[in-house]
Amino acid sequence: MEFKVLPGGDITGEARVPGDKSISHRSIMLGALARGTTRVSGFLEGEDALATVAAFRAMGVRIEGPEDGEVTIHGVGLDGLSAPAQPLDLGNSGTSIRLLSGLLAGQSFSSELTGDESLRGRPMGRVIDPLTLMGAEIKGAAGGRPPLHITGGRALKGIHYDLPMASAQVKSCVLLAGLYASGTTSVTEPAPTRDHTERMLRGFGYEVKTGGGVISLEGGGALQATSIDVPADISSAAFFLVAASIAPGSDLLLTHVGINPTRIGVINILRLMGADISLRNQREVGGEPVADIRVRHASLRGIEIPADQVPLAIDEFPALFIAAACAEGRTVLRGAEELRVKESDRIASMAEGLATLGIRNEVLEDGIIIEGGTLGGGVIRTFHDHRIAMSFAVAALRAEGEIHILDCDHVATSFPGFDALARGLGLQISAMTD
Ligand code: S3P
Repeated sequence: MEFKVLPGGDITGEARVPGDKSISHRSIMLGALARGTTRVSGFLEGEDALATVAAFRAMGVRIEGPEDGEVTIHGVGLDGLSAPAQPLDLGNSGTSIRLLSGLLAGQSFSSELTGDESLRGRPMGRVIDPLTLMGAEIKGAAGGRPPLHITGGRALKGIHYDLPMASAQVKSCVLLAGLYASGTTSVTEPAPTRDHTERMLRGFGYEVKTGGGVISLEGGGALQATSIDVPADISSAAFFLVAASIAPGSDLLLTHVGINPTRIGVINILRLMGADISLRNQREVGGEPVADIRVRHASLRGIEIPADQVPLAIDEFPALFIAAACAEGRTVLRGAEELRVKESDRIASMAEGLATLGIRNEVLEDGIIIEGGTLGGGVIRTFHDHRIAMSFAVAALRAEGEIHILDCDHVATSFPGFDALARGLGLQISAMTD
């Protein structure tokens, strides 16, 4: 599938983007391991979250749906999973493979985890190392890449792990293995990362302590089924926060968006650039803060992105780079080396596309410098990365020519229906299959 996007237009109206990917994954994992029946609404019916559903079905968990975002999970308890008959294929989903590796390290059965070409190129040493310290037996292919082979029946012991990188996936992997470990499992992180695992464990009645920068839990407890209302994904909202900010005449309301403080770097950074974003109707839904977000066009200016905002906006940089391209002056991002090991090397992928559209940029080892300017049209490669495709689609609002984006199938991993929703709000986008 390819996108063709005509230049110009504005983004106006009201929309609810699909459910949060991180929360959707965790709702299936914890629902499956709980005692009783968990009901989920607002579930993201994207390929990544569906890969997690398929994995738990393959381990004997009865899951109904998703249908219109509703999922019912018949939990089997922490020790109720059964051995999968085949290797578990997690597709494009880093969250699935890393969180599952923690859960599976504590099972009585052995398992193998794999994924698509992009996932098979991503580093897993970051989960193999702490799990090995806990007593797990887990082996990757060359360079610590998937497939991962996990040997069952190993007794895990709680450890303290000082995370070498700001990664919610690694933190969650260790904490989920900790459910099966003897004693206390604790982590410290170099910077706060998304805390959905901690919040949701508490929602399932499992005690998680946080204080003095340490997050800890005791192994051997139990999860009690609950109901979960998944908010709209701020990472999907981000494309429209940028779109409405850059396109003159725009006025958009995004409803029911998750505004967890560990996820709102995109709002903070856009506001520093001069964006007109206001939060309304702030409320708490199932332990997660939610708001409606109004965004109107504004003249943006380039900034030095504050280091403390980087982990809070880690998935939103491709969209933010488009904001930087449309801003007056220079935007500088440093300390974002994690972008190099996402679904693609997002510094390199974005730098290439920005250059294609005539935006001057300088690639740094851990970031990028972008000079705001005039965007032309052109043909964009996406490197199998959903967020690269959607970012360049919204760039067309300020381009002087048509933007043709190749290889957009992966958009469905996180944002099924992106093109239809964007079209309804004013983007002149058409999707074509070869
Ligand atoms: C995620 C954590 C982040 C993020 C990913 C989802 C999660 O990855 O990029 O899209 O759900 O825990 P890292 O933990 O590798 O930074």
